[in-house]
Amino acid sequence: MSTAKRSGPGTVADLRSDTVTKPTRGMRAAMARADVGDDVYGEDRTVRALEERVAGMLGHEAGLFLPSGTMANQVAVQALVPRGGEVLCAADAHFVSYEAGAAAAHGGISTRTWTTHDGLIDVDTITGMIHLAGSFANQTSAVVVEQTANLPGGLIHPLPRLTALHQLATSTGIALHCDGARLWHAHIATGTPLPAYGRLFDTLSVCLSKGLGAPVGSVMVGSSWLVAEARRLRQRAGGAMRQAGVLAAAGLYALDHHVGRLSDDHRRAQHLAAELAHTGVVEPDQVHSNIVVLDLHETRWTAATLVAAAAAQGVLGVAIAPRRVRLVTHLDVTEHHVERVIHIFADLLGRGPSQDDRGRRRSAR
Ligand SMILES: Cc1ncc(COP(=O)(O)O)c(C=O)c1O
Repeated sequence: MSTAKRSGPGTVADLRSDTVTKPTRGMRAAMARADVGDDVYGEDRTVRALEERVAGMLGHEAGLFLPSGTMANQVAVQALVPRGGEVLCAADAHFVSYEAGAAAAHGGISTRTWTTHDGLIDVDTITGMIHLAGSFANQTSAVVVEQTANLPGGLIHPLPRLTALHQLATSTGIALHCDGARLWHAHIATGTPLPAYGRLFDTLSVCLSKGLGAPVGSVMVGSSWLVAEARRLRQRAGGAMRQAGVLAAAGLYALDHHVGRLSDDHRRAQHLAAELAHTGVVEPDQVHSNIVVLDLHETRWTAATLVAAAAAQGVLGVAIAPRRVRLVTHLDVTEHHVERVIHIFADLLGRGPSQDDRGRRRSAR
């Protein structure tokens, strides 16, 4: 692995997202060695191995390899929900806010959203939103839950709440999909076995290209029937791939080498939050996994100005709202980077924006 590039003192500390990681040398070697075939003919043994492995890890019958988390969510939910059906999810969920309206545009699915005071699912809220068959209102067909919840700050929905949601879904005949782009983080942070999450949902999607560091790919799991339907929908979306084993090999490598190490990312996010707590923009107990959100409401900074001021010093974060900045720890963020991030943000937050910082904001627009 090119450790110099990853951790050298001069390198940019890129904490915008865990999607920015580059494949390690070991991963690239695994990709080069991959046994491949035409996956549309069902002849790529590496893809099949990945699909079977992820399905097994989550306690489901079958899996499907897809190019992205977006497509994995969409084919899963479209397999669960008929045209004209309705999905409930959080207002800031990737499924409804960042997939270019795909549920409506491709699936004919309408979406109704909730917000909760703590960013976690609240089963009473969801119970009150469900419209059952036979009513005049749109019929609710499924609920989508993001685990971990990205924009609220990588928060982890506790297992008892998910279990209560599962009971509600069973008693009302509603399907459940988990957008588990970062389900791995919830598993490592809480010690909850993956099948304990898996059995609560009809379908789950998990990403290989976020915390696990693969360049591409997600896997959707469910019953054999649902996965066959999702495979058909993947074909419709143009997402079927040929010698995709080179990509699946990266995913298999990531499962072997990059799941357990997520605890390093969590420890670094905790450390970052603890060291910035005195600035009043973050509460360490609100950091559950690898995401730290700085809430600037009590400061003179806007998110765009703070992000631009930090970027000028080689530290990258992302503005996720006018007064909220997200910092994400991942495979390519070292201890050294975290110390620099702490130093720079403590300094900026301690002094407030200068005239130069305000100018930077204007040129960053
Ligand atoms: C929670 C969540 N779900 C789904 C996705 C979509 O993944 P992709 O970018 O692979 O489509 C993302 C992307 O960041 C995400 O954060």
